[in-house]
Amino acid sequence: GGMSTTTARRVLLAAPRGYCAGVDRAVIAVEKALEQYGAPIYVRKEIVHNKYVVQTLEKKGAIFVDETEEVPEDSIVVFSAHGVAPVVHEEAADRRLRSIDATCPLVTKVHREAVRFADEDYDILLIGHEGHEEVVGTMGEAPERIHLVDGPEDVANVKVRDPEKVVWLSQTTLSVDETKETAAALKERFPHMIDPPSDDICYATQNRQQAVKEIAKEAELVIVVGSRNSSNSKRLVEVAKENGSRDARLVDFADEIDEAWLEGVSTVGLTSGASVPEILVQGVVEWLAERGYADVSVHTSTEEHIQFSLPKELRRDLRS
Ligand code: F3S
Repeated sequence: GGMSTTTARRVLLAAPRGYCAGVDRAVIAVEKALEQYGAPIYVRKEIVHNKYVVQTLEKKGAIFVDETEEVPEDSIVVFSAHGVAPVVHEEAADRRLRSIDATCPLVTKVHREAVRFADEDYDILLIGHEGHEEVVGTMGEAPERIHLVDGPEDVANVKVRDPEKVVWLSQTTLSVDETKETAAALKERFPHMIDPPSDDICYATQNRQQAVKEIAKEAELVIVVGSRNSSNSKRLVEVAKENGSRDARLVDFADEIDEAWLEGVSTVGLTSGASVPEILVQGVVEWLAERGYADVSVHTSTEEHIQFSLPKELRRDLRS
């Protein structure tokens, strides 16, 4: 070990990384709502799973709550990018709240699939992580018809009414490889199971996993910037470890990095989850540069050009 000065030290930055179109839209929605209507703007749950984003919006006058009943009647509430169950819309209407729905359109797509297959009387096997907000929202579309499958080990526990009439769907931010495994195990139990009409794991999740896979081959250590409750960020740590990096760590901020992690490391891979602002990655780049990792190169695995328009409730008011 020891950090020899003769070893070249470099940083490999993954691209794409950081903000996806759904996060970008949700964060801008809260900012625009604050400008348009003034503080306070209530936000149900963390708008996106990132500590820094939440703290920054709080400073500007956003108030984050866990449940709709904590929002004073007649105020404005924004629903987070992860989506909500239909019952939450009803609760908001009961309290006469004006709601702005910042659910990512790619989450809404999965909700629509769930509604459609439930209407056609399918049993829906939703691959996802127990307790994650997105899963809670999606299951709320058809609680009687949707069964959660939390990984390959969970497949044996699944019970359906008619094994001939089963479809699987998934959370948008899962590990691509693990989901394939779970779906294959489900298919073995239910050979007649049908696949989702299109990929439920979103483009941003897939692209960030692909990019970290490619840098993990060359990096002894991969640092993923992201929060502990961010599903897609946690997956990036796992994917890095499974694809060649000796060590991979999740940090919210540069000051959480432990210098001991750099022991014997010549190449540090660096990426960030879909809810992470680039300024936090730049903080890590500077932190590393101060410790001799000043040679930074970007490894691009694919380009992204997707953008979503703002929630319609907001667009309407911004226009007038
Ligand atoms: Fe949407 Fe995927 Fe981002 S579902 S919020 S584009 S991580």
